[in-house]
Amino acid sequence: MATGQKLMRAIRVFEFGGPEVLKLQSDVVVPVPKEHQVLIKVHACGVNPVETYIRSGTHLIKPTLPYTPGTDVAGVIEATGDEVSAFKKGDRVFSTRTISGAYAEYALAADHTVYPLPGNLDFKQGAAIGIPYFTAFRALLHSARVKAGQSVLVHGASGGVGLATCQIARAYGLKVLGTAGTEEGQKIVLQNGAHEVFNHREVNYIDKIKKSVGEKGIDVIIEMLANVNLSNDLNLLSFGGKVIVVGSRGPIEINPRATMTKESSITGITLFASTKEEFQQFAAALQAGMEIGWLKPVVGSQYPLEKVAQAHEDIIRGSRPPGKMVLLL
Ligand SMILES: NC(=O)c1ccc[n+]([C@@H]2O[C@H](COP(=O)([O-])OP(=O)(O)OC[C@H]3O[C@@H](n4cnc5c(N)ncnc54)[C@H](OP(=O)(O)O)[C@@H]3O)[C@@H](O)[C@H]2O)c1
Repeated sequence: MATGQKLMRAIRVFEFGGPEVLKLQSDVVVPVPKEHQVLIKVHACGVNPVETYIRSGTHLIKPTLPYTPGTDVAGVIEATGDEVSAFKKGDRVFSTRTISGAYAEYALAADHTVYPLPGNLDFKQGAAIGIPYFTAFRALLHSARVKAGQSVLVHGASGGVGLATCQIARAYGLKVLGTAGTEEGQKIVLQNGAHEVFNHREVNYIDKIKKSVGEKGIDVIIEMLANVNLSNDLNLLSFGGKVIVVGSRGPIEINPRATMTKESSITGITLFASTKEEFQQFAAALQAGMEIGWLKPVVGSQYPLEKVAQAHEDIIRGSRPPGKMVLLL
């Protein structure tokens, strides 16, 4: 490395593959922010399932190798480019995207993808906001266009996106039903906005949901595992009901007639299809949630940077504490 350049620890991926391709390096050059860019000293970063798909090389997004994974950091502004007016050194922030990657001691980001982190949230919680809350907001408000008084089933409510969805849905006046796969998960789902919770590992849980919602059915289902649940979802919907597919890990057979009789719809979403304006709009609503206090990220498993391969294994395998997985720097 050239002398005079500041170096940092960061995860680098030199080839697509399993978790073992995540390499911790200690001589990665700290980037220098230009114009509308900021440099963030990272305290925590979120681990999202999509980062495992990208790392494996099977996702549509294929970064140029080598790269540092991740998008969601929380930390403190270290330096700013000449055109940055919204932030100064020392400000506490979180991001929804980075330019240089998130699994690192420092992250470079465009200033419009960085937001103030209020003092009532710690850095681990800050790292849990980006993808989970912006996705939940896009699914509920932008795609499903939910209205107060409607019912929503958060199918897979105990993870990063699911808990965010429960909190937002409750704050917007919906009747919230959630599912989790463990007793601990069910408890946390109830503590974070759900009126009722069901266990998606119980054989008869769909019948229990049907019994709870009655003839009318559910207005909106936010689905985290469509390849397992989509067929059941269509049977749970109300007339004109909507399934919003947030997560799916394979194919599933459905009967399209189920959509005809109820004039129901299935819509997929992609957070990164959101425009710059939509991100700003989602951020304004979420910022209000942080100020008022209904937006409170729940942090689950925590790993040091050197255990990142374990984190990638655990997030796909599933059996781990509820809440958002984070890396600590
Ligand atoms: N479309 C987008 O833009 C977008 C954005 C973000 C995430 N996603 C996708 O959305 C999914 C969830 O993301 P995440 O960050 O919340 O992941 P996560 O934190 O790993 O949570 C996974 C969730 O799935 C639940 N689950 C497990 N088995 C289930 C089943 N049979 N039915 C319903 N839910 C089940 C888990 O519950 P238990 O652990 O309690 O069993 C947990 O609540 C992932 O597939 C991710 O790739 C998509």
